[in-house]
Amino acid sequence: MTSRRHAIALTLAACAVLMPAAAGGQGAPPAPPAYRPGLGDLMTMTVQPRHLKVGLAGQERNWDYLAYELHELEEALERVAKLVPKWREIDIAGLIVGSTKEPIEALEEAAKKRDAAAFNEAYARLTAACNACHQSAKVGMIAIQVPRGSSPFTNQDFRPAKP
Ligand code: HEC
Repeated sequence: MTSRRHAIALTLAACAVLMPAAAGGQGAPPAPPAYRPGLGDLMTMTVQPRHLKVGLAGQERNWDYLAYELHELEEALERVAKLVPKWREIDIAGLIVGSTKEPIEALEEAAKKRDAAAFNEAYARLTAACNACHQSAKVGMIAIQVPRGSSPFTNQDFRPAKP
């Protein structure tokens, strides 16, 4: 190969590599917009089921699972605070810490001590914290309560594992 032909071959090879980038992604479909769930979506998808599962675990005295699910609820609330720090001028991030941190810590203590009475008391306070924020955010029609009746998650066993 002459050095001139060699140079042409090299240039063509470089073009083949660089062209798709140089074309500005022409032909490639545009990236879909990121999915951004709203506050009500996050509450319904992540906070509500975890609050319910913590309640069911407490009813079954399943302390190991309760400690696990409580941590999941805590993380779900942290993600809400990060993704929606403000909602209609309301300081969601600040209110989440201010209202739910203490009852969640009390629930952690109750799970550690396997204390059903302490659990019931702290769970009622956590539920009241949900409602206090709903009221201050003027969505007081969203009323959270301690779960009643049998579990809606019929594919999950909330009873403690047999030793
Ligand atoms: C920091 C304030 C705050 C806290 C704490 C909070 N929420 Fe909410 N929640 C809201 C707001 C505001 C909305 C309305 C969001 C919207 O309409 O987009 C909402 C919406 C909801 C909804 C959606 C209602 C529906 O039927 O579609 C549910 C369910 C819910 N919250 C459950 C809970 C539970 C359970 C807790 C406690 C573990 C909780 N929330 C704690 C502020 C809060």
